[in-house]
This record gives sequence, structure tokens and C-alpha cells, in this order.
Amino acid sequence: MTRADWEKSYVSAESALRDAGVENADLLKLEEVRVRFMGRKGALTELLKSLKDLSIEDKRELGPKAQGLKASFDALIDARKAALEDAGDAAALEKDAIDLTLPAIRPPKGRLHPLTTTLHEIARTFQLMGYSWAEGPFVEDERHNFSALNIPEGHPARDSHDTFYLQGLPLLLRTHTSTVQIHTMESIRPPLRVVCPGRAFRHEQIDATHSAIFHQVEGLVVDENIGLADLKGHLQTLLQKLLGASTKTRFRPSYFPFTEPSTEVDVKCFFCPGTGCAACKHTGWIEILGAGVVNPAVFKAAGYDEQKWSGFAFGVGVERVAMLLHGVPDIRAFYTNDLKFLKQFDENLL
Ligand code: DAH
Repeated sequence: MTRADWEKSYVSAESALRDAGVENADLLKLEEVRVRFMGRKGALTELLKSLKDLSIEDKRELGPKAQGLKASFDALIDARKAALEDAGDAAALEKDAIDLTLPAIRPPKGRLHPLTTTLHEIARTFQLMGYSWAEGPFVEDERHNFSALNIPEGHPARDSHDTFYLQGLPLLLRTHTSTVQIHTMESIRPPLRVVCPGRAFRHEQIDATHSAIFHQVEGLVVDENIGLADLKGHLQTLLQKLLGASTKTRFRPSYFPFTEPSTEVDVKCFFCPGTGCAACKHTGWIEILGAGVVNPAVFKAAGYDEQKWSGFAFGVGVERVAMLLHGVPDIRAFYTNDLKFLKQFDENLL
């Protein structure tokens, strides 16, 4: 190749580059231009390659010229690429733009279930009276659920408990939290004051006031010379704190095998003016707890000296209290997990 030929190729490559329209090219077109000039048979590639056919002096003079063209080619392509990228970023930013002046979406906030807050409130009131907190297992043996509580085999009270037995095992789901009384006495020495809140199970026909799963707060106080007056004082303190000082309550004689004497405590119905309704089974009163002076037979079974120690016990129905507190006429509402129902209750965690 002669120098004149080379210079002709140079001029045509230079003008082709000027006309290539790099300034307005999109990414596809840019690649096409790159191949056209710098591909294996590209105009610039050829130009650079053909330098080798020139004389040393020509090479020395024209080499830098060719490199200069190559550099401006690279600069042109890079500049266009950068411009395209910037434009892409700007478009993406615009698309994902966040309007900081819009009101924020509040994340939904969890809250405690009304049964949990009621249970805590009952247990907390007793804790303030010096009770400690104890829990026991849901699966029990007959001794803790029945016989140690003076309910021997064949006792009619066993029938009234509608017990769930574990298939093939001498075990059952506790039908009341009174089981924890026995566990407590087996593990600590008197004097003692404990509350035992928890879940209990009965194979019951479910209706507006009965659920197969329910909650109780059990209480047990053991000391010397404890009697019915102490029991009444502690329970009245609870009821006034829980339901208000003006709440009408009545202590009614009752029967439980593990207490003697026994009592049941009713609260004036909150749903009717005492005239009777479905919630109070048309009596004007709602029963919320059972209690009594601990039967010496229970102390004996748990290994306490029944001559020396006396005490009282009680079991509060948590669902009943929650129904009264919140005006819920049907116990099933607590177990259906309906958010519309649950959202009505206090957001403040205890
Ligand atoms: N365990 C009884 C029940 O589930 C409630 C009860 C009554 C508990 C009297 C007691 C008590 O501790 O003294 O029906």
C-alpha cells in the first residue's frame, strides 16, 4: 500500500465516522458502529493494520495520526454510552420515585388477646397481694386431677368433669387448674400463696357459655389459722379491683370435694338489669368462681400436716370475667380469631 492510498483510507474512515450518527445512536446501533469500525474487518482495524505496509518514516508520522483517530472513535462511543446510561438511570428513578409528601401506611400493630389481658389482670391483682405465680402441665394423671383433690374413683364429681382421656394411657387433659395446687404442695413447704393461671379442657357441648377449652386462675393460700374470712377478704379485693367498687357480688354455699366449706361467687349480670337473660341463664347472676377452705384430705394427700396447716383455694373462670368486663355475650367469640372482634380490644400491651 502506498502512502497516498493509506491517506485516502484515513480520510474516508474519518468522514464515515463523522457520518455514523453516533451522537443519536441507541445501544444496538452503537454496537453496530463498533463492529463496522473496530470489528475484525472494520475500517479502523484495517487502517491500523495497513500501517505495517508503509515505510518506517511514514509509519512514524502516520502511526500517531491513526492512533488519534482510534482515540477519538473510543471517546465518541464512550461518551454516547455514558449519556444513554444516564438517561436510563433518570428514567428508572422517575419511574420508582417516592412521593415523600404522601401520608405513610401504618404497619398493623399486634395486641394481646382479651383472654390474655384478663388472665394477667386477675393474676397481677393477686401478685400485688403477695402471691407467687405457678404453672402446671396440661396433660395430667388421675392423681393430680382427681384423687389427690379428694375425688376418688367412682366419685360422682368425676362424671361432671367430662374428661378427655389420652388413648391407651392412664393420662388425661386437666379439667381444671386445681391440679397445680397438688404440684405446688409437692414441691414447696408451707406457708405459701400461689396463683396458677392456665388452660383447662372439658369434653363439653359448646354453646354461648361453654367451650371445650377455657382458662382459669387457680389460687392457693396455706398458713396457720387461715379461714373463710381470709378467703372472702382476698376475693372481694380481687372483684372490686377487677370489676369496680360498686359491683354487686354474692357468695353462695356450694360443694367441691377439695374444699369444706365451699362457695361459689356470682356477679350481678351485666347484660340485663337483673331481670334475667340468656347470658345469666335467666337468674340475674353470673357465676365467676368457685372457692373454699381447703379440705384436710387434700393436705393429707399432698403430704402436708393437716393438723397444723389450714388454707383456702379458689378457681376463677377467665372467660366469664372477660365476658363481663367487655360485654361479650357469647364465649365462642374468643375462639374464632375474627380480627374485627379482636381489634376492639386495648392495643396497650401489659
Ligand atoms: N376446680 C373447680 C372447677 O373447675 C373450681 C374451683 C372450685 C377451684 C373451688 C378451687 C376451689 O380451687 O377451691 O370447677
